[in-house]
Amino acid sequence: MKVRSNRLDGLGTTIFAEMSALALRTDSINLGQGFPDTDGPDSIIDVAVEALRSGRNQYPPGLGIPELRDAIVAHQSRWYGLELDPATEVVVTTGATEAIAGALLGLVDPGDEVIVLEPYYDSYVAMIQMAGGIRRPVTLRPGGTARGQAGLRPRGTDFRLPIEELRAAVSPRTTTILLNTPHNPTGAVLTEDELRAVAAVAIEHDLVVISDEVYEHLTFDVPHIPIATLPGMRERTLTISSGGKSFSFTGWKIGWATGPAELVAATMGAKQFLSYVSGAPFQPAIATALGSDADYFDAFRAGMQTQRDQLCDGLARLGFDVFVPDGTYFATTDIRPLGHEDGMEFCRSLPELAGVVAIPHQVFYDDISAGRSLVRWAFCKRPEVIAEALTRLERLTRV
Ligand SMILES: Cc1ncc(COP(=O)(O)O)c(C=O)c1O
Repeated sequence: MKVRSNRLDGLGTTIFAEMSALALRTDSINLGQGFPDTDGPDSIIDVAVEALRSGRNQYPPGLGIPELRDAIVAHQSRWYGLELDPATEVVVTTGATEAIAGALLGLVDPGDEVIVLEPYYDSYVAMIQMAGGIRRPVTLRPGGTARGQAGLRPRGTDFRLPIEELRAAVSPRTTTILLNTPHNPTGAVLTEDELRAVAAVAIEHDLVVISDEVYEHLTFDVPHIPIATLPGMRERTLTISSGGKSFSFTGWKIGWATGPAELVAATMGAKQFLSYVSGAPFQPAIATALGSDADYFDAFRAGMQTQRDQLCDGLARLGFDVFVPDGTYFATTDIRPLGHEDGMEFCRSLPELAGVVAIPHQVFYDDISAGRSLVRWAFCKRPEVIAEALTRLERLTRV
């Protein structure tokens, strides 16, 4: 009996599942998986409860309820000046994960090459493979070997986009660039110059851009620029985001993709056979959340920035080389100053050594040498949890 398909070869279990299970088993603090340990606003939960109680429990429309599509359109207009048609240019998905899956299955044919920033979010690799595509990684690297002041590296110098390497990665079989900004796991936020360079490549070679912007509301002192706002890009970009990340309801799995009708239709074409429709009672709640006033977004960002600084300062004090992120809720460290070389070994032993879980970067690379000694830590956790994790991590410096 054959129980495995070639499409799944080499994919194994996602590192997030492995490390979250390890955290539970060892009663460790989970700074691995990127989910907040506080829920989003009660007022938004109330909308979901009301939807449950008022009978919004059957299949909603495949594209998403009109109320949510309108709210997504209003959000893109309000924050970025992007005007969309809610009837044809928006699809609601089961998290950004399904938007990524639908886009890649709907837009990539077997043998097509997809350029992807490395380290990459692991579902990109899985879905490119399931679509029969070929990934062409372009690697974001640390800027140098020098440790910054007090262990914190100088801002904006690491994990920049190597534009020449991006140009060189294009071949006659390239059809798609899969972008991610703010970038998981490095926390880099692509600058306008970098995005313009990507846009120039996409336009010159007539490529589709799929832009994963789930951390759009989590940038710290730098702007988030959707590539769809650059000249010539709206018509070739599918932008993906998620209510889970912006409103701290990751378990609701409400995401979306927006862009030109043909890209949305291709995504929908695959989505209808993946989930068919997505979380009916959560859709009105996310629609309300998207209309939140600026205070909500400011407070959300400010709280996360405080936690970022708490974690980064603490890790630097312990001796790690810390890459302070400009966006997302992840910080990266190099573990070599503490005498470790291999991030995977380090993360597998960390629960026993210190009762903390983190994620090794190396699982997000084709060539693991580029990220062997890098480890990702999530700071979307309450300050007291981060403080306790840092206290536990002091054990590392005593061995
Ligand atoms: C870059 C990136 N894209 C997509 C997702 C998945 O988002 P969702 O939970 O909405 O499926 C994540 C979640 O961690 C992510 O980091």
